[in-house]
Amino acid sequence: MSKKVVIAGGGVLGTQIGLICAYHGFDTTFWLRSESSIGRTTPKIEQYTKMMLDDLAGAKALVGNPMGGYLYPKGMISDWKSMTVEKIDEMVKEGEKNLKDNIHIELDMAKAVDGAYIVIESMSENPEAKIGVYTAMKDLLSEDTILCTNSSTLLPSTFAEYTGRPEKYCALHFANTIWKNNTAEVMGHAGTDPEVYKEVVKFAAEIGMVPLQLHKEQPGYILNTMLVPFLSAAQYLWATGVSDPETIDLTWQLATGAPKGPFQILDIVGLETAYNINQMKPAAQQEGTVENLIGKKLKEKIDRGETGITKGKGFYEYK
Ligand SMILES: NC(=O)c1ccc[n+]([C@@H]2O[C@H](COP(=O)([O-])OP(=O)(O)OC[C@H]3O[C@@H](n4cnc5c(N)ncnc54)[C@H](O)[C@@H]3O)[C@@H](O)[C@H]2O)c1
Repeated sequence: MSKKVVIAGGGVLGTQIGLICAYHGFDTTFWLRSESSIGRTTPKIEQYTKMMLDDLAGAKALVGNPMGGYLYPKGMISDWKSMTVEKIDEMVKEGEKNLKDNIHIELDMAKAVDGAYIVIESMSENPEAKIGVYTAMKDLLSEDTILCTNSSTLLPSTFAEYTGRPEKYCALHFANTIWKNNTAEVMGHAGTDPEVYKEVVKFAAEIGMVPLQLHKEQPGYILNTMLVPFLSAAQYLWATGVSDPETIDLTWQLATGAPKGPFQILDIVGLETAYNINQMKPAAQQEGTVENLIGKKLKEKIDRGETGITKGKGFYEYK
């Protein structure tokens, strides 16, 4: 029998994590807190299932294309070099079946986590809500169950004591559009058992991710520790009028060979997220600071609906 994975939280990321687990053959249960949560999560399951299967089927057009190796859905196909159109057709069929048969939704927490190999918490970035759920869950979990958090900004050491199993608790952090951007940052806290950590690394690989191992806790993990200051520096150059987004992007791309510049990345991340990150800096609340200026300029764009690629316009226009 396949191992049971439980996802707590059926939002954007929780849904994607559950689906990639189901796709790779894990028996997957979403624990949701209410009927209305089911009403919100079910359409997401349908939407992301379609996107995943469309991207998988779309990979047939990439077979033999030199760009194929960059563009295929890496979380769904493990060995691109040996891929053929026929093999992808088979994978689509199997994927359709797995994404239907391996998914369950449960409101009763005890039933949801019963016999779970791993529980992945992917709830809103609200410490009280996370503590509430860990506390409610801790006596319901089997002794061996591993507990992970997908939190982007909160550290596992903040919550370890509430889990009742600090040694079996760590962060497993995914990226949005998990089936294409298949990174999984694995980060323990000081009390995480090294054997559990290794097991989480193994699990991440089994669900099609590339496990990226952190050897100690770091707010922002590896990616955001680099990305947030990089994007802030670009916003500084723009907001203070040193240069314009197109020139800043071009400079970065030409000089480093990177496929995208910071403003193209900001359009993907979304300007609301960039604004929220900027506003968390104390200087953003002080009139006359660069951070305050960046906040105002981002807000102007957000108020005009120019929030990024999903709205067709951010720093660039998208058809
Ligand atoms: N969105 C991203 O790009 C992204 C990327 C990586 C990690 N994350 C992390 O994933 C987690 C979830 O983010 P998201 O973007 O999916 O958020 P979301 O707002 O789309 O979903 C949050 C989910 O948590 C549920 N929830 C909130 N409070 C709850 C409670 N008390 N009990 C049970 N369920 C509750 C909500 O019903 C919802 O289903 C966060 O910790 C976030 O930092 C998000």
